[in-house]
Amino acid sequence: MIVEIRSITAQQTLDLRQRVLWPNKSRAEMHLPGDENALNFGAYQNEVLVGIGSFFRDPDAASVFRLRKMAVEPKLHGQGIARRLIFAARTELKTKGATLIWCDARLSAAGFYQKCGFKIDTEVFQKSGMDYVKAHLTL
Ligand SMILES: CC(C)(COP(=O)(O)OP(=O)(O)OC[C@H]1O[C@@H](n2cnc3c(N)ncnc32)[C@H](O)[C@@H]1OP(=O)(O)O)[C@@H](O)C(=O)NCCC(=O)NCCS
Repeated sequence: MIVEIRSITAQQTLDLRQRVLWPNKSRAEMHLPGDENALNFGAYQNEVLVGIGSFFRDPDAASVFRLRKMAVEPKLHGQGIARRLIFAARTELKTKGATLIWCDARLSAAGFYQKCGFKIDTEVFQKSGMDYVKAHLTL
């Protein structure tokens, strides 16, 4: 399977954000503050966008990036698409001076982040009725 990781616009992420992460919310609600300045990555298979992840630079710490809205087309889960996206993003962010990537990981996805080398906090917290843990990857 050939998967290509490319830079995309925030606008291009909205469909997968909505369908995979928040099917009960509207597409308009998928916009995030700072989307215009984020580094958005897309995974393409046969020219179809099948995975997304957005990285936001910390306004107070230029080498720190927050990963948000990581999602892969459900029928393609478990094929290494998200891992490829994380690794490609990691290489690109390093060239931009990144030393740390962190995210609020859905507890249901914590195992994925762990497989990608993130350290996972033990404390579980809730947002929007969902369980989360903090995860971070030192570059
Ligand atoms: C989490 C998600 C992005 C992972 O994408 P993916 O393309 O299926 O992940 P990969 O195939 O690259 O997985 C890499 C490794 O993590 C493991 N993994 C993937 N999802 C996992 C999960 N939810 N829990 C535990 N392990 C997981 C895979 O088995 C694989 O392990 P391996 O190295 O032993 O083969 C995808 O399942 C998804 O979109 N989930 C719904 C949305 C979501 O929860 N996003 C994260 C919000 S914080």
